[in-house]
Amino acid sequence: MTDWGALAAARLDELARISEPGPGVTRLPYTAEHRAAIDRLSSWMRDAGLSVHLDDAGTLVGRREGPAQAGTFYMGSHQDSVRQGGAFDGIMGVVLPLVALERLLAEGTELPFAVEILAFADEEGVRFPTALTGSRALAGAFDPDTLSMTDREGISLHAALQDFGLDPRNIPALARDRGQALGYLETHIEQGPVLERAGEALGVVTAICGIERHQVTLRGTTGHAGTLPMEGRQDALVGAAEIVTAVNALARRTPDLRATVGELNLLPNVVNAVPGEVRMTVELRAPQDMLRKTAGETLGTIVAQAAERAGLEASHWRSYSQPAQACDAGLMARLKDAVAATGGAGMCLPSGATHDASAMADLCPIAMLFVRCEGGVSHAPEEYASPRDLGLATEALCLFLRGLAGDRPEI
Ligand code: HGY
Ligand code: MN
Ligand code: MN
Repeated sequence: MTDWGALAAARLDELARISEPGPGVTRLPYTAEHRAAIDRLSSWMRDAGLSVHLDDAGTLVGRREGPAQAGTFYMGSHQDSVRQGGAFDGIMGVVLPLVALERLLAEGTELPFAVEILAFADEEGVRFPTALTGSRALAGAFDPDTLSMTDREGISLHAALQDFGLDPRNIPALARDRGQALGYLETHIEQGPVLERAGEALGVVTAICGIERHQVTLRGTTGHAGTLPMEGRQDALVGAAEIVTAVNALARRTPDLRATVGELNLLPNVVNAVPGEVRMTVELRAPQDMLRKTAGETLGTIVAQAAERAGLEASHWRSYSQPAQACDAGLMARLKDAVAATGGAGMCLPSGATHDASAMADLCPIAMLFVRCEGGVSHAPEEYASPRDLGLATEALCLFLRGLAGDRPEI
């Protein structure tokens, strides 16, 4: 009798070691680590009888054929991680549906529709100031302007794709046929404490928050920390500090709004020189798009006022945004039934994190299965989901797919 949870845990543990050196997991898109991870996933997919290919956006696609014209049900998540992230974020949503499919096939269950398991290259948007490249491509929403965006080394997304052996010119043609897309289910570690506090292993996501990211650059005048009088200084970090404080205060007084300054780089960044330039990111999230957009406009005012008070030049642009997405009620109901059949309460909760499902919602109905996250810790090496919970999630996925198949008499 296979312990499917232990199998999933072992595979996730193996994949977690495919990382840049250092604490936790650092696996960025279109890198040697990405290549090694998809090579490993490909071998498991082929062993399970799936056809496997890498599309020109870097998405690994494992496909189990179904009857002609029966449509395709999609499952998956992202293979990439944040820097020094956890072993479960994203990649769990590739390993678990594959294990679930292996279990169904081992039990002799053939599904009356095709299934594709997708490992998206870049969901985090850590290497390039964009995200969801692969899922947006499948949904027909890829933005070619993102190809010119560059990483910290000045490598463009276009060059990174080519260096990875891919042809960016083919990305627009990756869009899937909406008429054939039955739905998309993403399994993901919750990344928060809600399920753990409720004593639940699994949860059903109701909606995914909207998100926008802003790049702010403040330019002042650097100078000697000892000889430059305080009067008249144009210290870029002073302006940045005011923005950080004002953004945080805005979010604290606005229910449901979350604001984060996650990146801040200053020049020349030495102990005895006045900061002449600061480049920072401001990220805004909310379940309601209007709330987020209004906060984005307020941010523009905050930046302008802080720059004026500190005698700085400011440039500010919104580098990324994606709307809030509701999950499909029908798929949610099926997922709740499946979770309940594993002994869970079928708890429903929103997602404060964004996911590839946010983009796949432009293609087909979406659903998300959350798995308990120990201590709610994520985007950190300590991120953890237990083999028992991985096993329950695999069981729920099998039950969900059986339920979906149940509507089709051939099974
Ligand atoms: O930022 C997020 O919510 C996701 O982890 N990329
Ligand atoms: Mn994720
Ligand atoms: Mn993440």
